[in-house]
Amino acid sequence: MRYNTRMASVGRTVQSAIYRAGSFGRRPTVPTDGGQLETAAERAMSRRAFGYVAGSAGGEATARANRAAFDRWSIVPRVLAGTPERDLGVELLGRRHDLPLLLSPIGVLSSAHEDADVGAARAGRTAGMTPVLSTQASRPMEEVAAALGGSDFWYQLYWSSDDDLAASLVSRAEACGAEALVVTLDTAYLGWRPRDLDLGHLPFARGEGIAQYTSDPVFRRLVEARVAASAGTDPGPQPRPTPAAVRTLLAMSRNHPGPTRDNVRSPVPRAAVETFLDVFSNPSLTWDDVPRLREMTSLPVVLKGLLHPDDATRAVEAGVDGVWVSNHGGRQVDRSVGALDALPGVVDAVRATGSAVPVLFDSGVRSGADAFVALALGASAVGIGRPYVYGLALAGEPGAAEVLRHIAAELDLTMGLAGCPTLADVTRDRLRTSP
Ligand SMILES: Cc1cc2nc3c(=O)[nH]c(=O)nc-3n(C[C@H](O)[C@H](O)[C@H](O)COP(=O)(O)O)c2cc1C
Repeated sequence: MRYNTRMASVGRTVQSAIYRAGSFGRRPTVPTDGGQLETAAERAMSRRAFGYVAGSAGGEATARANRAAFDRWSIVPRVLAGTPERDLGVELLGRRHDLPLLLSPIGVLSSAHEDADVGAARAGRTAGMTPVLSTQASRPMEEVAAALGGSDFWYQLYWSSDDDLAASLVSRAEACGAEALVVTLDTAYLGWRPRDLDLGHLPFARGEGIAQYTSDPVFRRLVEARVAASAGTDPGPQPRPTPAAVRTLLAMSRNHPGPTRDNVRSPVPRAAVETFLDVFSNPSLTWDDVPRLREMTSLPVVLKGLLHPDDATRAVEAGVDGVWVSNHGGRQVDRSVGALDALPGVVDAVRATGSAVPVLFDSGVRSGADAFVALALGASAVGIGRPYVYGLALAGEPGAAEVLRHIAAELDLTMGLAGCPTLADVTRDRLRTSP
């Protein structure tokens, strides 16, 4: 069932359904509390998969700062506001969205569940939220677009060091129906992530999360050139294969398109991984490169990963269509500013230019009340990240959909209980800083 948030109160609909099922002895498939959701997912996931999803950079101070920033704000509800129904709709990049909530782009979803990107995107559609498909997806964007059957999605780009590859990914996104291009700028390198480092685990090195690349014609040509260049060269003495090396080779072969038994004997899956590691990102990019994005696409462009107000001003001056405040869920820079702490400064900087472009936000949102706070601080819409991955890990597509519905329901009820019939009423003066 898709929830029409304009007609009905999504909060009461979801809440009543849970209590009604409870009277027949059925409990929600996924915990409704963000903390318990994470604990349940940890039990369901492999150590590596959970480490990859839950882990952040360094001592994880940024991840803690993301949560602590929410604790510094309190909602001050107003009464007798006459809120029998809420309108949670918002206009973003030329289209009305039923909810001010998006699925933040998340890579390697196959490590959570085999439903992976298709399941997550369809869960978003069920819950009335637009999914943002990742460049590090486990399924090609065309497959996800087909599974969505024409409903809306955005595409997130990691701007490769190979411009032709970046352009090819963008043109595929346009061709399969993406509505907007989100360019993530905080990942010129992968952050220092002890949970993954201590397990020696990088999913991409096993061929996981590189489906957008292995399905790309430009990328495939790069791989063919690498294979041709190494053909006939003496690889030198080879170390004896260890069981772990054999498992990695098998994983690469399984994750590569085509029959695994052919891939095992082919140099291509390994060359694909090595090529990916070479071209993944472009640390040389500067603001002077932003106009080239415009030449690559006619889609609206959103820059993701901004925290500094001056960067937001530059983004608006560069003519982008939106900015996305995020610290990648604390996965990139340890001891970074909490994303919510950065939000008001960015909103003020953008509005000071006179621009009305949307300011999107994510990093640390675990509930509908969190989303309310971010909206009150000026976010136009809020990205949900890890929680939907945990739902996916627990129960596939339906689990992810349930998590998203719970967050939407709580946002709707919080608005109703705080006396806000529409998003226009969710303003900074509804908040106080906590003592
Ligand atoms: C496992 C994982 C993979 C991610 N992959 C991507 C990605 O491919 N592209 C991207 O722009 N952001 C990626 N992100 C960042 C999310 O888009 C989002 O900014 C982050 O999850 C927000 O933090 P939160 O989940 O703690 O709320 C990833 C985050 C996680 C947890």
